[in-house]
Amino acid sequence: MPEAANAKPPIGVFDSGVGGLSILKALRAELPHENFIYVADSGFAPYGERDQGFVLARARAITRHLLKSPDLAIQALVVACNTATAAAIQLLRQDHPELPIIGVEPALKPAMTLSHTGRIGVMATRGTLNSQKFKTLLAGLAGGPAQFICQPCDGLADAIERHDTEQTTALCTQYAQALGRFGAQPGDIDTLVLGCTHYPFARETLQALVGPAVQLLDNGAPVARQTRRMLASFAPESAPGQCLLFSTGDPELLHNAAQRWLGLDVMVQGLRI
Ligand code: DGL
Repeated sequence: MPEAANAKPPIGVFDSGVGGLSILKALRAELPHENFIYVADSGFAPYGERDQGFVLARARAITRHLLKSPDLAIQALVVACNTATAAAIQLLRQDHPELPIIGVEPALKPAMTLSHTGRIGVMATRGTLNSQKFKTLLAGLAGGPAQFICQPCDGLADAIERHDTEQTTALCTQYAQALGRFGAQPGDIDTLVLGCTHYPFARETLQALVGPAVQLLDNGAPVARQTRRMLASFAPESAPGQCLLFSTGDPELLHNAAQRWLGLDVMVQGLRI
């Protein structure tokens, strides 16, 4: 890995765009000595309103790219996207049985243990909610104490991607209203699952809309812990890890988002895959 302070192979992380930075943030906190390569597939975003075949083809192309280059070759892969995890993780694992691959899925089970009212809102992309993987997860919890109210959030990841705060607020308002009443009283939704890695970057807006009594849940920290568990070895503790950022779309978008949300000022390289 060029310019890395240690020679340890990096961990690959990808998303349709800037959303996976919410996972990268947690990964860097959990594994500060590891090197990371982040790919934002912004040239092909959003994934959430595309068909599964398209998302699978993109996930395969990115994974192959991250494995093939001698100075990039990754030691593990984090699919930092709920939509791509749902569409592709099973086949990626079949394609690359030697590679530890960690995915992200909406935190339904943790939400169930946290909720007091038993009413849980789930915001995610249409692709995630329509996927077989999500339906299986939901079916496994049917008959339990919690009721899940699922809201597809068309356009929200795209608005966050473009840092369009006006559109982000308008869509958050629309989807929060569609979910129903929030609060801590019986019948209220008291827990909101952020089932898309872009949504933590709208956390403040959402929290203001649903009120302080509602818990918002994302998956950054659990995914980072799971990644740590799956690594075969760790980088030496003396050397700080480094991040390389790539984008298949506008490099400025990723650069600005990484600076804004992670305090990471790294030149973003363009990528054609
Ligand atoms: N960030 C992604 C997710 O977690 C997908 C957003 C999109 O491209 O629609 O699902």
